[in-house]
Amino acid sequence: MLETSASLPFVAKSRPALPETEGWPLVGSLPQILKDPFAFFAQARERYGDIYRLNLGLTKVVVLNHPRHAQHVLRDQGQNYRKGGPMWDAVRGLLGNGLVVSEGDFWLRQRRMMQPHFHRQRLVGLTDLMVEAIEESLDSWEAAAAAGEPVNLHQHFNQLTMRVIVRTLFGSALSREDMEQAGRAIGYALDYIMTAMITHALPGWLPLPGKKRYQQALAEFDEVVYRIIAQSRAGEGEENHLLAMLLNTVDEETGEGMSDKQLRDEVATIFLAGYETTSIVLTWAYDYLSQQPAVMAKLQAEVHEALQGRRPTFADLPKLPYTKMVLQEAMRIRPPSYWLPRTAVADDEMDGYDIPAGTNVISLTYMYHHHPEQWPDPERFDPERFTPEQSAGRHAFAWVPFGAGQRLCIGRDFSLMEGQLALAMMVQRFDVRRTQDEETKPQLSGTLRPKNGLPVILTRRND
Ligand code: HEM
Repeated sequence: MLETSASLPFVAKSRPALPETEGWPLVGSLPQILKDPFAFFAQARERYGDIYRLNLGLTKVVVLNHPRHAQHVLRDQGQNYRKGGPMWDAVRGLLGNGLVVSEGDFWLRQRRMMQPHFHRQRLVGLTDLMVEAIEESLDSWEAAAAAGEPVNLHQHFNQLTMRVIVRTLFGSALSREDMEQAGRAIGYALDYIMTAMITHALPGWLPLPGKKRYQQALAEFDEVVYRIIAQSRAGEGEENHLLAMLLNTVDEETGEGMSDKQLRDEVATIFLAGYETTSIVLTWAYDYLSQQPAVMAKLQAEVHEALQGRRPTFADLPKLPYTKMVLQEAMRIRPPSYWLPRTAVADDEMDGYDIPAGTNVISLTYMYHHHPEQWPDPERFDPERFTPEQSAGRHAFAWVPFGAGQRLCIGRDFSLMEGQLALAMMVQRFDVRRTQDEETKPQLSGTLRPKNGLPVILTRRND
């Protein structure tokens, strides 16, 4: 019998090599990336296409720019793209085996146990805690507003979203001092993670700058969290917060609950994943709102009409669709998690290129959200993009700020709800005026923060 050509190795079709960015020896394209990362990514896509190899000198990664790639690596072939590589190793140092970093059966078990607590209907019970925390934060900004003092809105939103996460996680069980201790510690640890990523390959005994302080920060965080876990296990305090719910959850198959160590890892995960991300969205939303009076006026009109000056409730959320569209557009134009690193487990192929096992890929959310084929005039802030009419026909993975597939953010509904409530309450209470004309630049770090925050002056409104 004649062999078919497909079974003969010497006639196997060889695939073309991926285009590779130009760069210097040792550092590759790093200098250009550091100068202006997002301009670099936009230009690289135009020059090399939707998929290319990024030359970082000593290492190379494949960068994915089209929503079809998000569908491929996050959903269709999600099993083949795992959370390996230096960034995830650095995050593991902080979160242990928490949900963002765990994998395989262990991840599945944890996800099954935690998922029900994040369903929209379960969140109804957390709305009051959220609204209370937002209100306390806004109250604490009144003095600066009355004095006309400039404030950094990004820091303010960090404090607000931290208060929301702490209140919903722990109820009122956490004292102000404990909250500040945990917040400072995790804030420091987050900043240190970038250093940890760069230095992960060095031997563990090397005394790196900041490492001791990082370990101290982790110990401080753990001290607070283990104390609260012990109190909650002993049945002290109220029971409507997330920690209490996680404490009482058992795996349906084995009937076992989580150990203290696992609870600590999940609490650290929710803390880390859940507060700065939402704060970044609110800050970018205000960055654009403060420059687009027509969008702001429409938002204020919606909030006024829906709430007539009172506090929002869960039932009000459907009456605030434009508020949600403002948040969606802020997350499109400045996605807090702007890149998701993965490593291919087995050989694969994308767009006709070979992706051998072990390849590190970057799923570049930022470019999916700026792809000119999906988003005309991508640098323009325009919430109307999210009307049903304008959304029709768009690729299903063109907007993926919360990731996609199995590893979709568990806190998606939580943060959209928090964002809607916070934006509505902020719009009711304060007018915001920028104190500088320069464009706010994004900073290249683990998340897409505004480089120098957002300096503004707040003025009290009487809505
Ligand atoms: C605007 C706010 C937020 C953004 C943009 C965001 C973004 C993301 C993204 C992109 C992922 C997927 C990561 C990956 O696949 O590599 C993720 C996962 C996750 N997020 Fe969020 N997140 C937000 C808010 C929250 C909140 C409020 C919580 C908790 C209360 C949370 C908890 C988590 C957890 C636990 C995971 C891991 C899920 C898993 O792998 O099973 N996030 N988030």
